[in-house]
Amino acid sequence: MAKPIALAADHGGFELKEAVKAHLDELGLEYIDFGTHSTASVDYPDMALPACDAVVSGQCDKALLFCGTGVGISMAANKVKGIRACCCSDSFSCEYTRRHNDANVLALGAGITGPNLAKRMVEIFLSTEFEGGRHARRVALVDSIQP
Ligand code: RB5
Repeated sequence: MAKPIALAADHGGFELKEAVKAHLDELGLEYIDFGTHSTASVDYPDMALPACDAVVSGQCDKALLFCGTGVGISMAANKVKGIRACCCSDSFSCEYTRRHNDANVLALGAGITGPNLAKRMVEIFLSTEFEGGRHARRVALVDSIQP
């Protein structure tokens, strides 16, 4: 059985998270929403951590993170050992960060990416497999930078 998807956002990403959540409902995909639950101001590192911890612990395979740009929350996520977060604003990057980087976190910026593109990017991110092979060696090298 598929594991739930971890979701988290700061206030800047809250509405995009809600739009993506509705799309996951339509797709019948389970998720755990680690907040935030309103547009009241919160700090994106605080929001990123519980969702990333859920991935590292194995409770979830992947997380979707949202902030104003996707940048801050992806920077916080990439500080967590075992997390490979990609801040994406296009479908091609979403596909290849799965195929080549085995990214386990996708970060989206609500000020950059509209809801329709975000939904498509999430579908691509969730359905694209890692290719392994030579890419596995490179991903291991990336992971070895933060032992
Ligand atoms: C919050 O104002 C904003 O800085 C945040 O959502 C994000 O864009 C940070 O990278």
